[in-house]
Amino acid sequence: MDGVTLVTGATGKLGRVLMRELEERGLPARGMSRSASGMARADLLTGEGLAAALDGAGLVIHAATDGRRDVRAAERLLGALKPEQHLLYVSIVGVDRVPLPYYRQKLAVEHLVRARGGSIFRATQFHDLLFTLARASARLPVMFYPAFDLQPVDTRDVARRLAAVSASLRNGAAPVEEDFGGPEVRPVKDLFRGFLQVYGKRRPLAPLRLPGKTFRGYRAGGHLAPNHALGTVTWEDYLRDRAEA
Ligand SMILES: NC(=O)c1ccc[n+]([C@@H]2O[C@H](COP(=O)([O-])OP(=O)(O)OC[C@H]3O[C@@H](n4cnc5c(N)ncnc54)[C@H](OP(=O)(O)O)[C@@H]3O)[C@@H](O)[C@H]2O)c1
Repeated sequence: MDGVTLVTGATGKLGRVLMRELEERGLPARGMSRSASGMARADLLTGEGLAAALDGAGLVIHAATDGRRDVRAAERLLGALKPEQHLLYVSIVGVDRVPLPYYRQKLAVEHLVRARGGSIFRATQFHDLLFTLARASARLPVMFYPAFDLQPVDTRDVARRLAAVSASLRNGAAPVEEDFGGPEVRPVKDLFRGFLQVYGKRRPLAPLRLPGKTFRGYRAGGHLAPNHALGTVTWEDYLRDRAEA
């Protein structure tokens, strides 16, 4: 496969780390964003700038999301691809098992990508997302935690694996579908305790249980990939690195 690797969502949590990883490996890459300077400027919803962003790209790693209109954005992206351009879509473990509206969108995008012979890479929840959740919960006098397990993964691990997958796709490997999970499956209560410890806070912890299929899906572990616990960076490693940065 010739040409550069185009990364959509290159300014995002994962995209930023992925761009660094590709650069460090000497893999020619171009980031795409609606506004960041030094990147190909394009909007997946309007299609503005998209043809120019895709020009000369062999592989496209699709890591852009706005949480609401991802099917439309994917349709626009797939419609603009040339037949020889391969799409590697970043999805989430369990989009087919947990009926969260966001996951349903991602599942619909997976179907579109698969129908076009693209690759799908599903990761578990990023440490950054868990951190946002923990920090928001710790603002209250009682720290409510969702009463289920998580398998948080570090964007550095995800980026390393995505870069390796990209390299093999560029070398002619067949389309891939794989799950990539963090190193440990742990109750959120335990993960929140780790957060409190690192930040020297004390809070009583209380379980949060919600009715409905989505919560049941999480309780049943639909978002976990225990057989693909391939990440190396633990939650405590992430918290330590973050506190020291
Ligand atoms: N967060 C998690 O825990 C998690 C776990 C597994 C998988 N994932 C998946 O991994 C991917 C990356 O997630 P993330 O957390 O890194 O996302 P993020 O931080 O929210 O970044 C998403 C990026 O998408 C770009 N974007 C949004 N709308 C766009 C549009 N209309 N046109 C072009 N670009 C647009 C934005 O770039 P600009 O504002 O610069 O245009 C933004 O930086 C997503 O597909 C997500 O579903 C996330």
